Amino acid sequence: MTNTKQITFRVRRFDPDKESAPHWDEYKIHVHDGMTVLEALHELKAKQEPTLSYRSSCRMGVCGSCGMFINDLPQLACQTQVLHLGTDVVTVAPLPNYPNVKDLVPNLEPLIQKHAAIKPFIIHTNSTEVDNPTGEFIQSAEEREAFSQFTYCIKCGICLAACPTVATDPLFLGPQALAQAYRYTADNRDCGLQERLSAIDAFHGPYQCHMAGACSQACPKGVDPAFGIQLLKRTLVLNNIGIGRNKKTAEVRPLADVVKEIEKFAPPPRTV
Ligand code: SF4
Ligand code: FES
Repeated sequence: MTNTKQITFRVRRFDPDKESAPHWDEYKIHVHDGMTVLEALHELKAKQEPTLSYRSSCRMGVCGSCGMFINDLPQLACQTQVLHLGTDVVTVAPLPNYPNVKDLVPNLEPLIQKHAAIKPFIIHTNSTEVDNPTGEFIQSAEEREAFSQFTYCIKCGICLAACPTVATDPLFLGPQALAQAYRYTADNRDCGLQERLSAIDAFHGPYQCHMAGACSQACPKGVDPAFGIQLLKRTLVLNNIGIGRNKKTAEVRPLADVVKEIEKFAPPPRTV
């Protein structure tokens, strides 16, 4: 039988056009087994509070839109089941460490600006090959593994909301951008460390991290940005003492070889 329970939702409301400060409103919702905080908010908006604002899209932990401060922890609303929280009163507020646009909507501009600052793309010195490819840059499974976990970042910004350093130094690049800086510099197809240095080897860069680890604990995708920051520090130290990066730049495998490789995985011919 489906378990249902009445839960009180304390929701932080703020309309900058009408108010000078946020306030809290309470709503009662019948919650059933498996119902997420996001589904509860959808029901609240449909049946009780049509003016409530929040952000969501995929409902499956992929788009990173629905980050909120639920019972004082930054979490994805679509991945948080209300009854799993184990409280009769559930508080929902916008992510901390971001400006508040309205109700539960944070302004994620700082996250995007910091992400853009570290040049989150492959920078290769072989621009002729990049502009007019004749093949593909070779990457072994081990070389891919060196940064694989950091590619799972969905840019939800929850790690910045959890980070005590961001709370006290809004200019700190933060766990998301710094982990992505490591992700790209560790990629053997990338030669962009020197181009990223002015952004990442700076006062508000990785050395501001106190290793609280709150970012890694909060990340809903299992990324370990705190570890990425430590790996980035090591990369910078090695670079600064002239040892440089410990990786071979990916070579180009000719297109004909790539096609042969793909043909090995071609499906068998149809029999009917
Ligand atoms: S590292 Fe994790 S918490 Fe931070 S933005 Fe990426 S997915 Fe979100
Ligand atoms: S709605 Fe996409 S991550 Fe929650």
